[in-house]
Amino acid sequence: MNRRYRKTIIAGNWKMNHTLSETKAFAEALRAVIGRPKWCDVVLCMPYVNLVPAMRQFKDCSVSVGAENCHYASNGAYTGEVSAEMLKDIGVKYVIIGHSERRQHYNETDFTVNKKVKHALEVGLSPIACVGESLEQREMGLTMEVIHYQVKALFAGLPEEKVRHVIVAYEPIWAIGTGRTATAEQAGEGCREIRAVIRQLYGARIARSVTIQYGGSMNTENAYELLAQPDVDGGLIGGASLQVPDFMAIIKAANQTTE
Ligand code: 13P
Repeated sequence: MNRRYRKTIIAGNWKMNHTLSETKAFAEALRAVIGRPKWCDVVLCMPYVNLVPAMRQFKDCSVSVGAENCHYASNGAYTGEVSAEMLKDIGVKYVIIGHSERRQHYNETDFTVNKKVKHALEVGLSPIACVGESLEQREMGLTMEVIHYQVKALFAGLPEEKVRHVIVAYEPIWAIGTGRTATAEQAGEGCREIRAVIRQLYGARIARSVTIQYGGSMNTENAYELLAQPDVDGGLIGGASLQVPDFMAIIKAANQTTE
């Protein structure tokens, strides 16, 4: 990470986990131990139904609450969907866009990811946009091509002044929920490549201001090494964000990497 130019962000992605009562218990337990993380921003992305109460529950823990998806339209006949405007209006700051589980199960494409990123930014949310290759693509030697394509697609048509508000998460699909973490070198290489594409598109000054996270089986054991990579500016954490001690250990690892 490089704190001179960009923020370090440790974000949990709870996916479809934690009821409201569990969220409340988590907030109480976290409040007792979190203190004031010096060097990183902490975000928890969770199911829509729990966002409003969670914002109240996490208020005194210096934790921002985020959503896990949003629609690209402002409103309309999209049964079951939630717009970026609705999230903004309740006070949400972050929204995950293009997670591989949504690409896999809900027809999310590079085109819809681009539309969602643009719309979220217009409304004033910070998108956490996910990219990453499948195991087959890695084994065919196509990792860098996939990263190039997905990063170019997510930034397509985005004006320069909005770019630093985008957080990109490098999440190799084969490392998600599998316990098979990318090595620190693989994570560092993926994040470096993402920054190189942003540099090609927008120049060095803007590229160095973008926060790029690694996600995929990050845990208490491997967080320090992953976060110590120069282009890894934080984590997007699934399983290990569900329990306070594990999540807290990762926040501490992020704080230690600057010292
Ligand atoms: P795991 O940390 O459970 O592998 O999930 C990573 C992820 O998908 C975060 O968005």
